[in-house]
Amino acid sequence: MSDPRIIVALDFSSTGQALFLVDKLDPKLCRVKVGKELFTAAGPQLVERLIDKGFEVFLDLKFHDIPSTVANACKVAASLGVWMMNVHALGGIKMLAAARDALPPGTSKLVAVTLLTSMGPNDLDSIGLNREPESVVQKLAWLARDCGLDGVVCSALEATGLRQMMGNNFCLVTPGIRPVDSSVDDQTRIATPRKAIQNGANYLVIGRPISQSKDPLAMLQRLNNELET
Ligand code: C5P
Repeated sequence: MSDPRIIVALDFSSTGQALFLVDKLDPKLCRVKVGKELFTAAGPQLVERLIDKGFEVFLDLKFHDIPSTVANACKVAASLGVWMMNVHALGGIKMLAAARDALPPGTSKLVAVTLLTSMGPNDLDSIGLNREPESVVQKLAWLARDCGLDGVVCSALEATGLRQMMGNNFCLVTPGIRPVDSSVDDQTRIATPRKAIQNGANYLVIGRPISQSKDPLAMLQRLNNELET
């Protein structure tokens, strides 16, 4: 599989736990995501070990700071050799452009988080954003595209509208994926892997359905098969 669609979320608090899962997976069948918890615990050394094992890494640190700080952080992340990284679109036009300019062309992909899916209309009101979440997501996705970013992270349910608006050359990365027979956990706006792809997602972030499965590799293979058919 040359461009696996599934990104397995390594939501762990230690190198040992992450490697225990990763050693059961196959880098030809998935990519992996390192987020704030694991990166804080295990640092860049783990990212390098994952890359040495043949995995492409999505570094999910959601940078959000003044433009020069974010640009420098992106440069360092790219030097680790990560396949994809992300920033918050709410950092604004100067921050997004600085992040984009910090990455040498053809190296890491850069995507933006629009609104966190945990933010509902009341949360937006409370920070002075008196608009529907969907319209904020669309505005921030346009901003990301105008600044030359490769795509956005969004829910699979938002993907349909964003794919129509943004055309085919914009990357949509969707968490909140649950196979039909999986536990929903704490996710709310979920979609099956196949539905997410039908809605226009390029990459699916999947954590617990794989990491907590009795046989993570078999589950990964099953989900890949589901996507292919
Ligand atoms: O275990 P599960 O499949 O729910 O994991 C989803 C992963 O995607 C987690 O790492 C979570 O932090 C991340 N994520 C999310 N919703 C977002 C952004 C990221 O679930 N809006």
